[in-house]
Amino acid sequence: MPLSRRSFLQAGLAGAAGSLAARPVAGPDAGADSLPSRWLGRPKDELPTPALVLDLDLFEANLARMARHAHAAGVALRPHAKTHKCVPIARRQLAAGALGVCAATITEAEALAAGGIGGILLTSEMVGPDRLRRLTALTARQPDTLSVVDAAEHADQLDAAAAAAGVVLNVLLDVDPGSRRTGVQPGGPARALAQHVLRRRHLRLRGIHCYSGASAHVIGHAARREHSARALAPAMATFAELRREGVPLEIFSGGSTGTYDIDPALGTFTELQAGSYVFMDVDYRRIGGAGGPVYDDFAPALGVIATVISRNEPRRATIDAGIKAFATDRRFGPEWRAHPGAAFSWGGDEHGILDLATVGRDLALGERLEFIVPHCDPTVNLYDRLHCLRRGVVEAVWPIARGHA
Ligand SMILES: Cc1ncc(COP(=O)(O)O)c(C=O)c1O
Repeated sequence: MPLSRRSFLQAGLAGAAGSLAARPVAGPDAGADSLPSRWLGRPKDELPTPALVLDLDLFEANLARMARHAHAAGVALRPHAKTHKCVPIARRQLAAGALGVCAATITEAEALAAGGIGGILLTSEMVGPDRLRRLTALTARQPDTLSVVDAAEHADQLDAAAAAAGVVLNVLLDVDPGSRRTGVQPGGPARALAQHVLRRRHLRLRGIHCYSGASAHVIGHAARREHSARALAPAMATFAELRREGVPLEIFSGGSTGTYDIDPALGTFTELQAGSYVFMDVDYRRIGGAGGPVYDDFAPALGVIATVISRNEPRRATIDAGIKAFATDRRFGPEWRAHPGAAFSWGGDEHGILDLATVGRDLALGERLEFIVPHCDPTVNLYDRLHCLRRGVVEAVWPIARGHA
């Protein structure tokens, strides 16, 4: 039954007063923090396309699996929220046992904090007056906020901003795993930076951040393990040396969905910052898992529904989802769930093309198809709202704090 906005709001108010029975939708309270929407309670087949959708059963199974894994492996979880930029998802990650979430940008961190999320680790260097002011303001409100530092000059800027704002900033040394993106070099340079930070009165050195993005998508589990172990070894050795020298480091943070079952066994990790596991994408399915060539430890919960809008050529079907509907940073496009072998090509901003010779059947005008996205993080950033489905019905609509700043 479709819900009117009014009945949704009434149900929401009754829910807030404690009446679970009055919740607008079934299932573990996915709808409790939904945006009002005319699509609530409607079948997914009615959503305007292209639509970003989340299968709640698969998503909840992904959350539970990562939580169980971290618990068994003896590491904490601080999942990366750059993947979803979505407060209701961060809330569920915390409810599943995460001690906080990571954010890539100050805007993401502010949106998460406004939604009541604590324990935020900013994994990018906060440089420049605007970011420094916002980081210190966030820390004044949430003193458990953490960020990273990779140079003495940057430490001085953080310290001065913290002094001006009257706060103490928690920092992790960002150590380069060999990717030369950010990070101080492990060994001597990292130890010198640690000493420099320890002398800053408004900084509190808490640990090491070392994220090896290059390891995450190495194809083949054994090769990935080798890559990650090699990339992280110097930072882990630096962590141990600093501790031996009496520097009270508590946190070693890093890791990804690709290495979640590899990094904790390396011995030094105190927390994992995997992100994509909540959604999954074509990119991750290709890398192979410990058990076989398809990485299916986590299920592809995220999708985009598109519509066939032109069928004027015998071998081609054109859909209404192109480069504005999917991230295009990978060599491959989206994968049609029903026919993973179907060849997709980009048809422009609003168009995608399916080669019917690879589909094995005709497609009707108006037919709706659901795709696994090529790369989840930048695809999600193309949408304002995530339509959450339970057995094909819209149970909740969650906002995405999209943007790049
Ligand atoms: C610093 C950092 N940590 C963790 C992650 C999470 O990685 P994944 O989404 O592959 O699990 C990312 C992703 O880009 C990242 O940039």
